[in-house]
Amino acid sequence: MAAAPEQFEGFMINDSKKWSDFSKEKFTPKIFEDHDVDIENECCGVCGSDVHTITGGWGKLPTAPICVGHEIIGKVLRVGSKVTVCKPGDRVGVGAQVQSCMKCKNCKEHNENYCPHMVDTYGAPYNLDEGHSDKPMKDKSGNQIFSQGGYSSHSRVHEYFVFPIPENIPSIEAGPMMCAGLTVYSPLVRAGTGPGKRVAILGIGGLGHFALIWARALGAEVWALSHSPNKKEEALKLGAHHFVDTNEKDWAKPLAFNFDFILNAADMTNEFDLPTYFSTIACNGEFHNVGLPDKPLPELMAQNFASNGCKLTGSHLGNREEALAMLKLASEKNLHPMIETIDISEAGCKKAVEKVKVNDVRYRVTLTGFNKAFGTGSK
Ligand SMILES: NC(=O)c1ccc[n+]([C@@H]2O[C@H](COP(=O)([O-])OP(=O)(O)OC[C@H]3O[C@@H](n4cnc5c(N)ncnc54)[C@H](OP(=O)(O)O)[C@@H]3O)[C@@H](O)[C@H]2O)c1
Ligand SMILES: [Zn+2]
Ligand SMILES: [Zn+2]
Repeated sequence: MAAAPEQFEGFMINDSKKWSDFSKEKFTPKIFEDHDVDIENECCGVCGSDVHTITGGWGKLPTAPICVGHEIIGKVLRVGSKVTVCKPGDRVGVGAQVQSCMKCKNCKEHNENYCPHMVDTYGAPYNLDEGHSDKPMKDKSGNQIFSQGGYSSHSRVHEYFVFPIPENIPSIEAGPMMCAGLTVYSPLVRAGTGPGKRVAILGIGGLGHFALIWARALGAEVWALSHSPNKKEEALKLGAHHFVDTNEKDWAKPLAFNFDFILNAADMTNEFDLPTYFSTIACNGEFHNVGLPDKPLPELMAQNFASNGCKLTGSHLGNREEALAMLKLASEKNLHPMIETIDISEAGCKKAVEKVKVNDVRYRVTLTGFNKAFGTGSK
């Protein structure tokens, strides 16, 4: 099997003012270390976070050019001397995190997705010695190496963030599970989603549509909350027992004190009338944000929590155990997301991110055709 090349190649953005003008460029991956896995990328999902990053919605580009994409599926080409989780030839996935310190309290408690030293899959600086050193990892020109994402030919990732993919999950469906799927699976499970729980999924996009699938499979009574009537039929197909159009006047009234848990995967929470949503929460229930809009949350009064003692919470990605459990659930229960595919190219990446920006995806785009675009495809 061919080894990974010295330089990887990706569809990259140079300027957030031209956020959908991708150009195919080479980049230097991190230095190969003992726990690293080299992967030949096969496909990659397109996350709302990719769009926040390249548009500059979350702030200036962390590095330029940047290659986004953190819902990666591919084939293992080479493993470092200490790798135990996979071997060359295996089909694996990588989500939105590629390194953590493995030593801090959070890492030791299986909260590596909250490690203060974590490295995101793209746009984060690497330090030497698998991140344990304070010294930057530098390329031949002396510049610190930044992580680059999965709209690319290859990935190089610490094994702890590499997940074996069960055989019966197609790659184009497994890709989006790596970020969208895991990011909603983790809070649902941590909130005890299961029989007897009433769960609302708010914002039926990439994340939200996975949340409908998981919440139903975990045994909860599930509501889809969407800001138009357009997604009703599909939301019910995906797993919702009930559908609510939040654009309708007085939608919240019949749902007073109803939900144990609202999982908010919408991207525009800054425009929401949060107290109305809070009124639908059962006593001591939770409004949980995974959506990360460009703008601040609306102003709240402390009194807004007084009528039911509700909580406003949030979360980031999920841990390794949750990723493996999610894949097992999808595999055993034969669960399928709704995926659109677009072949990767400069035009393909442009089309994909523009569709996400205008909320025109049902419900996740996976970029495909990587072997053709990059001339890869080892035997
Ligand atoms: N916390 C984390 O670790 C994490 C990880 C990944 C992504 N994220 C964030 O999660 C969010 C969702 O990502 P995604 O990939 O699922 O994005 P997406 O596919 O674009 O979905 C966003 C959804 O938000 C809702 N929405 C859009 N415009 C709206 C408007 N004007 N008013 C009300 N609702 C609106 C829509 O649902 P309806 O049409 O049903 O209303 C839309 O489908 C993003 O902010 C992303 O950055 C967070
Ligand atoms: Zn993501
Ligand atoms: Zn740590």
